[in-house]
Amino acid sequence: MKINSVIIIGAGTMGQGIAEWFTRQNCLVEMVDQNDEFALMSLERIHKNFDKHLAASKLTLSDVVHFKNNLKVKKLEQINPEADLVIEAIVENLEAKKKLFATLDQLLSPKCLVASNTSSFPITQLAQGLSQQRKKKFLGLHFFNPATVMKLVEVINGMETHPQYAQDLIEWFNQRQKVACLCADSPGFIVNRVARNFYGEALRAAETYDQEKFKEIDTVMREVGGFKMGPFELMDLIGIDINYNVTQSVYDAFFQEARFKPHRLQRDMVVANFLGKKTNKGFYHYES
Ligand code: NAI
Repeated sequence: MKINSVIIIGAGTMGQGIAEWFTRQNCLVEMVDQNDEFALMSLERIHKNFDKHLAASKLTLSDVVHFKNNLKVKKLEQINPEADLVIEAIVENLEAKKKLFATLDQLLSPKCLVASNTSSFPITQLAQGLSQQRKKKFLGLHFFNPATVMKLVEVINGMETHPQYAQDLIEWFNQRQKVACLCADSPGFIVNRVARNFYGEALRAAETYDQEKFKEIDTVMREVGGFKMGPFELMDLIGIDINYNVTQSVYDAFFQEARFKPHRLQRDMVVANFLGKKTNKGFYHYES
């Protein structure tokens, strides 16, 4: 499989990381966000990352020049319709995603593969509304945060996806230091399904907003459990709003099974704009 040109829609936490990773694979990358300013800020952050790697001698000057030339910010109407792959990484909202896919279906050439980085929506459901031809070329590509570092990519076929594309993509990623695996199109796929209890039980153990408790639980999970990050640190990194949305949608997709139930502390923190590192306040407080 050849992937030379990639379009990333949504230039937030995930879109930025995914765009940087593909640029470093020598792809031509276009980044789109409904908010032009966000897209330009992400571009600037990626440039800074390249410069840091140059300063640390992890990249050469010619690499950096090449990567910067290959990464562009575009408006949706200006994207290359002949791109090999489009990855959607916008807000975790079913209607917003479906609306975007319907637009992309019109804008893109039939040869283009379209993927969603959704954390929780079934790929088959996201594909509804696409043309029959596109449904065959629509799949889930679920990256992890930070996408430049985390190796795992969950690859998910919808009911009408042609299975060859997933096989080819898995091979393509595995040749580039990612670990890609095929997952069933079930709520939360593998990691987000298993992780619901990592977060949910930790929230139930803490019960109220108490930073000492968060620290205690995180320390135990890290030092004794062997996890790289504790559940509260990880929720702060992911974004409390994103994590809460994923919990809600996995819970609904399992017909409200009690073990997937969201916790009121998540809801209260979203209401209070305690969204984690991105707002400098979450389970912990951060300096800007
Ligand atoms: P984010 O909130 O950081 O970024 C979303 C971006 O999408 C924003 O910049 C927003 O302006 C833009 N956007 C919203 N609607 C748009 C539209 N219609 N067209 C173009 N741009 C639009 O969100 P984040 O964390 O990057 O998540 C994006 C997706 O990735 C979600 O589906 C999420 O579930 C998934 N995901 C998130 C992970 C995480 O750790 N944050 C991990 C893996 C997947």
